[in-house]
Amino acid sequence: PGGEHATGALAGRHVLITSGPTHEPIDPVRYIANRSSGKQGHAIAAAAAAAGARVTLISGPVSLPDPAGVETIHVESAREMLNAVETALPADIAIFAAAVADWRVADAASDKLKKDGKALPPLSLVENPDILATVAHRKSGRPPLVVGFAAETQNVIDYARAKLARKGCDLIVANDVGGTGVMGGDANTVHLVTTSGVETWPTLPKGEVATRLIDHIAGLAPARQA
Ligand code: CTP
Ligand code: CA
Repeated sequence: PGGEHATGALAGRHVLITSGPTHEPIDPVRYIANRSSGKQGHAIAAAAAAAGARVTLISGPVSLPDPAGVETIHVESAREMLNAVETALPADIAIFAAAVADWRVADAASDKLKKDGKALPPLSLVENPDILATVAHRKSGRPPLVVGFAAETQNVIDYARAKLARKGCDLIVANDVGGTGVMGGDANTVHLVTTSGVETWPTLPKGEVATRLIDHIAGLAPARQA
C-alpha cells in the first residue's frame, strides 16, 4: 500500500495517525497513563493503508503489532508524540486518535523514588501540549483535513462540538467511554460531529468503524494536488 502505483480511494495521499495512550514518567520506573489500547487508531491506520494511502502511525505504548504496510513510529510521552508528528508532516490527512495524557509530572525524578522518607512524594502536574490543536492551528503546513476524537463520559455531542471549535479541526469522532467496554474493548459507538451536523453510527466492531471512517474521510478530503 502507499506505493507509487497504489490504487484505492486514498492512493497517493499521506495519512498521519496518532494512536494509543501516552506514558508520562514519574521516575525511571513509574508513569501516569490511561486505559487506551490503541485498537481504534491502529485499525484506522490499517484501513487507510488498505485504501492505498501512505500511512505514518505515531503510536504510544500499546501491546498491538505494527499494522502491515504502515510506517510506525513508537513514542512514550505526549511531548515525544508532538515531536514525531511535526517531523512526519506534511500530510494530506491527519487523524488524532491517541488518548494523550493531559498532564505530566512537572519534574520527573531521575532516580527511583524511595518510600523511606517521612512524607509522601508530592506529584505536581503541568499540562501537556495539545497535539491536535497545535497541528490544526498551524498557519502554514496545516493538513487539509484534520480529524480529532473526543472520548467523553457525559454530554457527548455538546462536548464534541465545543472541542471541534476550540481545537480548530474539521471533524470530531465522538464516543461515549462511560461504563465499561469501549476503552480496551472491540466495539465502538461513534458520532461524527462537524459544523454542519451530527451523524451517529450504530455500534460496530472497531475494524468496521475504521473502514467506514476511512471511506467517509476519502469522500471529504480535498482533491489531490497534481
Ligand atoms: N489531544 C491531543 N493532545 C492532547 C490532548 C488531546 O492531540 N494533549 C487530542 C486527542 O487525540 C483527541 C482530541 O484531542 O483527538 C480530544 O481529546 P480529549 O482528551 O477528548 O480532549 P481534551 O481537549 O484533552 O479535553 P478533556 O480531556 O478535558 O475532555
Ligand atoms: Ca484529554
